[in-house]
Amino acid sequence: MIFVTGGAGFIGANFVLDWLATTGEPVVNIDKLTYAGNLENLASVRDDARHTFVQADIGDSAVIAQLLAQHQPRAVLNFAAESHVDRSIHGPEDFIQTNVVGTFRLLEAVRAYWSGLPADAKSAFRFLHVSTDEVYGTLGATDPAFTESHNYEPNSPYSASKAASDHLVRAWHHTYGLPVLTTNCSNNYGPMHFPEKLIPLMIVNALAGKPLPIYGDGQQIRDWLYVRDHCSAIRRVLEAGRLGDTYNVGGWNEQANIDIVQTVCALLDELRPREDGKSYAEQIRFVQDRPGHDRRYAIDARKLERELGWKPAETFDTGIRKTVQWYLDHPEWVAHVQSGSYRDWVLQQYSAQEPA
Ligand code: NAD
Ligand code: TYD
Repeated sequence: MIFVTGGAGFIGANFVLDWLATTGEPVVNIDKLTYAGNLENLASVRDDARHTFVQADIGDSAVIAQLLAQHQPRAVLNFAAESHVDRSIHGPEDFIQTNVVGTFRLLEAVRAYWSGLPADAKSAFRFLHVSTDEVYGTLGATDPAFTESHNYEPNSPYSASKAASDHLVRAWHHTYGLPVLTTNCSNNYGPMHFPEKLIPLMIVNALAGKPLPIYGDGQQIRDWLYVRDHCSAIRRVLEAGRLGDTYNVGGWNEQANIDIVQTVCALLDELRPREDGKSYAEQIRFVQDRPGHDRRYAIDARKLERELGWKPAETFDTGIRKTVQWYLDHPEWVAHVQSGSYRDWVLQQYSAQEPA
């Protein structure tokens, strides 16, 4: 069985659902349930004996040690993080606590557990750390895409905290021999994405008749990957990645923010036309830029393709259509997130039945 941390968030929940569907191997899912953790994401596996949810902080060494001893996982996959750049600008403290201190404590708990394993289990064990392309900093318009050997040049409190966590993971391998793997992925999109990030925010604001805020000139470039392709990459790296290595994950899909928003508006115009017959694009508003806004990210994912044979299954056209359709098909999920009642739902439907 494996441990997943942060498995009630956007990527972690998609990963857990895909993992159970594709491998069937049991998962212990450890999540603190911050504002970004939503057990409604995991409703379909609530009664699945292969999924055990535990509400806990990765920085709580005693709880993590107890869970490791109790369940004896063959791998720990660390998705847990504070993940939103704008929040990191307004309040960096939580990012340092979870992304840096939390990862450190998790590494220490895992190291103690791993050190005590019998030889076979010890050599088969893996710690996989899920990270971001934002650790590499920003690119000029004509620079080549980030490779794994690009310098770390983080520019936001979020990316600096993720960079710090990547360095800790690396050091725990070099110093203590912990069998680690790190993935650095580009921007994800897809179902269950919290509507504070660009794509889901634009979908839910458009449908609510609200403005669609574009920072600065909207010409910043991100490299978008459908979330389930990220999940398949993580599974592949866990299965066959070289110990201590890092793997960039991306979809070769660079797009300017304004173009992304225009695409979302065009899809909504087709799938759920506005009652007044106008385009959702009329709701676009250019607003003040994000401080220190990185201009361009682009991932060179050739190492993962060459060494492990991974390729994304979705194109942006297919992935964004599925994503918009998912939000149209899940108005309750959106309503619960917007009203905050997803947290009550957790209390009513789930936590009461699970040990904290
Ligand atoms: P998210 O914010 O949607 O989810 C994070 C989850 O972690 C939440 O469920 C939250 O409750 C949990 N969490 C936060 N602090 C915790 C703590 N101290 N202990 C236990 N759980 C805690 O984030 P996401 O978009 O799903 O990102 C998951 C991981 O992938 C992060 O490490 C992020 O840096 C990385 N990543 C994200 C993207 C992206 O585009 N979203 C791209 C590349 C990498
Ligand atoms: P975001 O989804 O927050 O991801 P990240 O900052 O990690 O790349 O933002 C994606 C891009 O969209 C980024 O360049 C900032 C921009 N953006 C807007 O223009 N308006 C918004 O309301 C948001 C949330 C983001």
